[in-house]
Amino acid sequence: MNPDILYRERLASPEEIAARIRDGYVCACPSCIGQPTAIPEAIAKRAERGEIHGVIHHSIFAVPPAPFVNPAISENYSYVSWFTQASARKAVQSGQCDYMPCNYSEEVAVWDQRGPIDVFYAIVTPMDKHGYFSFGLVASECCDLAARAKYVFLEVNPNMPRVLGSNIIHISEVTAVCEYTSPILTVPIPAVGEKDRTIGGLIAEEIPSGATIQFGIGGVPGAVAEFLMDKKDLGIHTELFTEGMVDLIEAGAVTNRKKRLDNGKSVAAFALGSQRMYDFLDDNPAIDMRPVNYVNNPYIIGQFDNFISVNACLEVDLIGQVCSESIGSLHFSGTGGQLDFVRGANISNGGKSFIAMNSTAKNDSISKIKPILTPGAAVSTGKNDVDYIVTEYGIAHLRGKTAGERAKALIGIAHPKFRDQLLYEARQMHLMV
Ligand code: COA
Repeated sequence: MNPDILYRERLASPEEIAARIRDGYVCACPSCIGQPTAIPEAIAKRAERGEIHGVIHHSIFAVPPAPFVNPAISENYSYVSWFTQASARKAVQSGQCDYMPCNYSEEVAVWDQRGPIDVFYAIVTPMDKHGYFSFGLVASECCDLAARAKYVFLEVNPNMPRVLGSNIIHISEVTAVCEYTSPILTVPIPAVGEKDRTIGGLIAEEIPSGATIQFGIGGVPGAVAEFLMDKKDLGIHTELFTEGMVDLIEAGAVTNRKKRLDNGKSVAAFALGSQRMYDFLDDNPAIDMRPVNYVNNPYIIGQFDNFISVNACLEVDLIGQVCSESIGSLHFSGTGGQLDFVRGANISNGGKSFIAMNSTAKNDSISKIKPILTPGAAVSTGKNDVDYIVTEYGIAHLRGKTAGERAKALIGIAHPKFRDQLLYEARQMHLMV
């Protein structure tokens, strides 16, 4: 069938698509900026009018204004967060919205456990002459979830860059399409503070030319990139494509020529950043957007030599258990791909994973290195997986160290004002004499 004819047959308004939602439908969308705009808004309007009940939206990241995160309609249209960021944080913390514990590499596998998806909806680029839409800045779970869903609704937005990779869907696989032009969310380049810069410099010293890198969310990864401009033949294999990676590619530090897999290409599962980044990614043949169950698979990551992973955390206890997603029992974020990349780097020949944090929080009133994790804290990276912990006071290499050796190394990179107390607690816990 001619794709243009199929397109015309399946073209609908957002309201017509929303009218196809039934009570209790399970809806899923791509991670982050693949979240459609007009379709959820039209569904929320139906929820406000009481026309639908018990519809649930699932996603890795709620892009504002996220109409499903609204207590006034939560009986009718609610949200399950798979990686909580600012727009849904208060709703999850108050119990209005639920969250899904998972490793990002296993998102699709978790859906296999959870059960069917009624609707997959997403932003896509305009259709090409062959009948394909691109999910653009996100590959992650798009093709897998679209294939599992009973109905696929697409929102064609000409502002979505056409990024190359395994992120396409054919009009024949789509239930209905609407057209809606809206700005694609951009986020400011993360501010790099003085402590971040110190930490970035420490980590950069550990990254050899020829390494393959992954950077996570936050100021530290951006700071690391600043110190890598003179390296040679770096490779990129990352869940999140970051602003600093554009700088490294433009500076010639990244060639991807030493990568055992995907040689010559920078691989990512999704991107989030500035318009400059989106323009850089658009139609760039050296970029390959790939599904997250490939990118974050520890056994894929482990095939690269010298794989370097850099992520952030909220607190660490004296045996090296890392919490990156809650402050005590207060939910804050998600595991995302942290453990995936830590495990992958552990498999990699010459691989290293760095988990970084400032040594203190709240104007130096709290040490983020603690004798035990704050009660209720979620362990994101376990003691058997953790490799390097970094603060502005140095690097503690934990893998291969005993509990007592770990406590000593971690106390050595704690803020000096907390070291005596930590030493006392370590002795009380019989980690040392
Ligand atoms: N106790 C109390 N408060 C703490 C704290 C602690 N141990 N650690 C941090 N905080 C507070 C900070 O003071 C800050 O508060 P503010 O917003 O009022 O200033 C807030 O919590 C955020 O901390 P910060 O260190 O600035 O967070 P960040 O923006 O650098 O993000 C993570 C750090 C861990 C939340 C983020 O990296 C994340 O979401 N990680 C998830 C797992 C991951 O790494 N996935 C892989 C990459 S996607």
